[in-house]
Amino acid sequence: MFDTAVARPIDQIIAISRAYQEDPRDDKVDFGIGVYKDETGLTPIMRSVKAAEQRLIDTQKTKTYVGVGGDQKFVELFANQVLPDHAYGTDIIGIQSIGGSGAVRVLAELAHSLNPDACFWIPDPSWPNHKAIIGAVGAKMANYPYAKFTAEPDVDAILTALDGASPGDVVVIHGGCHNPTGIDPSIEELGRLTDGIGERGLIPFVDAAYLGFGDGWEEDSARVAAVADRAPEMLLALSCSKNFGIYRERTGAALLVGKGHANLAAANSNLLALARANYSMPPDHGAAIVRTIFEDPELKADWLAELTEIREIINKSRSALALALARAKQDRDWTYIDTGRGMFSLIDVTPEAAEKLREDHGVYIIPDGRMNIAGIDLNKIDEIAAKLVTAV
Ligand code: LMR
Repeated sequence: MFDTAVARPIDQIIAISRAYQEDPRDDKVDFGIGVYKDETGLTPIMRSVKAAEQRLIDTQKTKTYVGVGGDQKFVELFANQVLPDHAYGTDIIGIQSIGGSGAVRVLAELAHSLNPDACFWIPDPSWPNHKAIIGAVGAKMANYPYAKFTAEPDVDAILTALDGASPGDVVVIHGGCHNPTGIDPSIEELGRLTDGIGERGLIPFVDAAYLGFGDGWEEDSARVAAVADRAPEMLLALSCSKNFGIYRERTGAALLVGKGHANLAAANSNLLALARANYSMPPDHGAAIVRTIFEDPELKADWLAELTEIREIINKSRSALALALARAKQDRDWTYIDTGRGMFSLIDVTPEAAEKLREDHGVYIIPDGRMNIAGIDLNKIDEIAAKLVTAV
């Protein structure tokens, strides 16, 4: 059997991350995988997470299974934090997932199993794993255009592309801090997009992996609500990897949203069956951490304070990089980097130029030009910008 295997390339984000780790140069620069790093290059464990972990160690009495849907209290609290106007059980329901990616996977499987003809419309560009995950489910896929170097995506262009969709098709929408462009529609434009999706009989599938990294926890959650309030049915993938900094704990939630929808519980039973057949039950630790934080007002306040610190550093880094690039190359408009949100932004390079940047200067960006700006060394920003502009 193994003789029939043809070697496959690894996902480009993972490949760049690996190449960076193996590069012995001291002055290498990591713009690769999407993890937040502080000015020392460390991805810190948040204070509230450490405190919650200690509490769990001190009080946890068993390691028995938590169930197919995971920690239900965690799911309910998380859903409540993001969509407070949706009553859990009647307007929103779901399961704990294995990270945000695991949520995307089970929700895509659910949608495909309930409607095998549904085509998934993915922004171009998008996180490359969207295509990999939805393709692995066996669903049909198509793209809608997504602007790269502007202040906002062009909602009219998106809706024109979606004229080609059939009722029942699924539209993947990034829930803020678009990966890779960093460009999000305003809340009004998001509402207009959702209305257009509804008019075409399509179902929004919101992947919100960066809540709290854009404009604030409440502000970013309001983006999810702007879709949820307008859509009779919506799929929602949530992640705790970035906003709680618990990447390796693989914690997220797969949620089904629809105000007063009569069939939510039946749809959720399908989600549970898919999870059971897929991995049986999720791990506990990350969800238990987040639940502990949500249940304790003091821990929650500290988490929100630290999340604010992180967001402010990221936004400061975006502005600083935009300015440094403008100093290094004045005939380009770099404003989109400053006005964008989240960890990512694109730079207009070819894959070959990205490779040369890596080889000649030890600057690691994704071949499509994506840069993870979080963690950039602000003391060396002009030096780094000068290297980056050699590629454009
Ligand atoms: C990224 O886009 O870099 C992150 O979401 C990490 C990943 O799994 O790709």
